[in-house]
Amino acid sequence: MSLPTLMDLVRRSTDYLANHGIANARRETEWIFAETLKLTRMDLYTRFDMPVEDAEVARLRALVQRRGRREPLAYVLGTQAFGDLTLAVGPGVLVPRPETEELVEFVLARFSDATPLRVVDVGTGSGAIALSIKRARPTWEVTGTDASELALGFARANGERAAVAVHWHLGDLAAGLSGPFDLVLANLPYIGENERAECDPELAFEPQNALFSGADGLDLIRRLIDDLPRVLAPLGQVVLEHGWHQGTAVRALAESGGFQAHTIQDLAGKDRFAHLWRTP
Ligand SMILES: C[S@@+](CC[C@H](N)C(=O)[O-])C[C@H]1O[C@@H](n2cnc3c(N)ncnc32)[C@H](O)[C@@H]1O
Repeated sequence: MSLPTLMDLVRRSTDYLANHGIANARRETEWIFAETLKLTRMDLYTRFDMPVEDAEVARLRALVQRRGRREPLAYVLGTQAFGDLTLAVGPGVLVPRPETEELVEFVLARFSDATPLRVVDVGTGSGAIALSIKRARPTWEVTGTDASELALGFARANGERAAVAVHWHLGDLAAGLSGPFDLVLANLPYIGENERAECDPELAFEPQNALFSGADGLDLIRRLIDDLPRVLAPLGQVVLEHGWHQGTAVRALAESGGFQAHTIQDLAGKDRFAHLWRTP
């Protein structure tokens, strides 16, 4: 029997993913194929009549089926782009989201490299924020902390691969760290238990303690704000990512903790980040 061509397989896989509810089925198929066959996406078009060997068909089928079961594409591929970094991700660590790149951009736009700062990224996960900041501001001293050993394993490996030196720390929020930090950054879990039913099926594959944080989603942000006076330098500042409907609640938490707070919208125009500094 003749071997299937690349284009036969791309078409079949696209239909399979579309039938399993994947919105960008063609694009995701192309990513899986390009990554697995070590081709560019353009190669997929110029080599559309290339026969594909049985062993490769089996590898591709296994990956497409994983995606069809709604495992996140980044887990299937094993990596996620974040800014100019390519981060290793997999079960046990949250896939960094594009909104979080905006948190990094905000910090870099606001704080030049003129003054070396001490920075902590609380709930660092894959190390996305900590590594991006340290890479762009090599004179800053950056610590990434997480309660999950598995996540820290990814962060450490990502740091080694990118040759970016961040201090990694295992612990509950900022416990065990004394600071003082000039900048506290955090993208902590912020989905409320009451929102669980509306979540995409992909979220079931990611660590639940990287996503959910009590009934209203604010348990961890609340606890971190309570601990800020202990770890934040007198003129220190804080940037927290939060859910699109939590801007008012996070500002209220910050204000009752003795901070001034300003909400920043993401590129979609939704409340997404809180910028905090001490009330003079
Ligand atoms: C939403 S994920 C964000 C990961 C990463 N900062 C990013 O933006 O991709 C939240 C992270 O907080 C960590 N986390 C959850 N509870 C924590 C706690 N009590 N103390 C420290 N980290 C915690 C999770 O393990 C997870 O890595």
